[in-house]
Amino acid sequence: MPDVRFHRGEGLPLEMHKARIVQKLELKPIEERAASMAGAGYNTFLLRNSDVFIDMLTDSGTNAMSDRQLAAMMMADDAYAGSETFYRLDETIRRIFGKKYFLPAHQGRACESIISQVFVGPGSVVPMNYHFTTSKAHIVLNGGRIEELLVEEGLDVTSEHPFKGDMDTAALSSLIDDVGAKNIPFVRIEAGTNLIGGQPFSLANLREVRGICDDRGIMIVLDASLLADNLYLMKRREEACADMSIEEITREVSDLCDVVYFSARKLGCARGGGMCLDDDDAYLRMREMIPLYEGFLTYGGMSVREMEALAVGLEETMDEDVISQGPEFTAYAVGRLRERGVPVVLPAGGLGAHVDAKAFLDHIPAEHYPAGALAAAFFVASGVRGMERGTMSEQRDEDGSEHPAHMELLRLALPRRVFTVSQLEYVVDRLGWLYENRHLVEGLRFVEEPEILRFFFGKLEPLSAWPERLVEQYTRDFGDSL
Ligand code: F0G
Repeated sequence: MPDVRFHRGEGLPLEMHKARIVQKLELKPIEERAASMAGAGYNTFLLRNSDVFIDMLTDSGTNAMSDRQLAAMMMADDAYAGSETFYRLDETIRRIFGKKYFLPAHQGRACESIISQVFVGPGSVVPMNYHFTTSKAHIVLNGGRIEELLVEEGLDVTSEHPFKGDMDTAALSSLIDDVGAKNIPFVRIEAGTNLIGGQPFSLANLREVRGICDDRGIMIVLDASLLADNLYLMKRREEACADMSIEEITREVSDLCDVVYFSARKLGCARGGGMCLDDDDAYLRMREMIPLYEGFLTYGGMSVREMEALAVGLEETMDEDVISQGPEFTAYAVGRLRERGVPVVLPAGGLGAHVDAKAFLDHIPAEHYPAGALAAAFFVASGVRGMERGTMSEQRDEDGSEHPAHMELLRLALPRRVFTVSQLEYVVDRLGWLYENRHLVEGLRFVEEPEILRFFFGKLEPLSAWPERLVEQYTRDFGDSL
């Protein structure tokens, strides 16, 4: 028997690349970390990156790029209209997704804005496996509402269901009966379902959703931002996908959907976004929006360099070794956190490790933001920046009352190919320490609360002097040692 097992969810993740450019990091003393957290209003979005040691806020635009991507950027063809770079990207995207048209946009939410403006209106209902913050905001802004029809296991933090991003198809059929197909502009399916812990949907489930939508004449819109993780997890977890290549699975998924859109800050390890589709009429309506909001049709708000990087990044996404890195590192982090007793979302998905703040800080009620308090406390304890994905990320109800999130998560995103196993061990060790001292952490309250997407810019304060108590305990336990 081998001493150490590597890869494929069995042991240590194995880097299928080597680092050739690095960025120096600084780990500031805990007193400085506490001061910068206070200065940022206990909101990790408002920290300066120079105060952060390990940035696990997001994988958006922070994945490491490959040598081939960087080389391609040098070949970019600068032109406002008709850039050769655009045609290279257009050809790559149409080949990978097998759609007739590609429309570029400056990032994922721009696609959501355009899709919502074209298809959603007052009275529209958009069923989805689960919402993402910006996707919901655009649908609501255009007068529609969303219906989340996740399978029951999807919101059960400890359920080991392999496809927690699946849609409850019986619920979809009855919703269509209730509200009428004419009020449903499209069904939105999100790959690597972000807010429930990067959980995938299965090909079998998507086929079922397609069957229902075909019967009722409803479009399917795929949010493919986190498709890479979803593809890898389909191949590893779904028998029907085991012998398919990543290209084949991608094509099958795309063929089952009418519109595929993505944030290229995630998919393709670049920056930007885009939409692809076959329908001539929908294409023409969506196309009108590009020069209005994004830029000319052959760049859509992206720089030509990013478009070159994206074309190569998407090709590389078809390589199983490349896309293994997110889920494999996530599985490792989740496994090690479990060993320390830290409550995490199971099974490990893509995107990163998701800590269950409801269980971690079970003494803090939703209206005092357990996930936000955990994100702030963890930054103080470690210099690691995660992201609140809980009640703070929700909008208040119309009467001003809190809208408690289904889940209170501290997301520790794993930008692909960026951090090493020893850095993950540091994260696990400090989070393990914080778990042992969780009684020291208390809640937060807003002192500045924006109305829309308040989690981005809102400022909060601790309900007591708990950050100071955390610093004291840390200093007793760790002294000057790292
Ligand atoms: N859809 C999903 C599933 C996303 O995760 C994101 C962004 C978007 C759409 C919007 O794309 O940022 O390019 O405008 N997620 C980032 C995150 C912000 O940190 O999870 P964008």
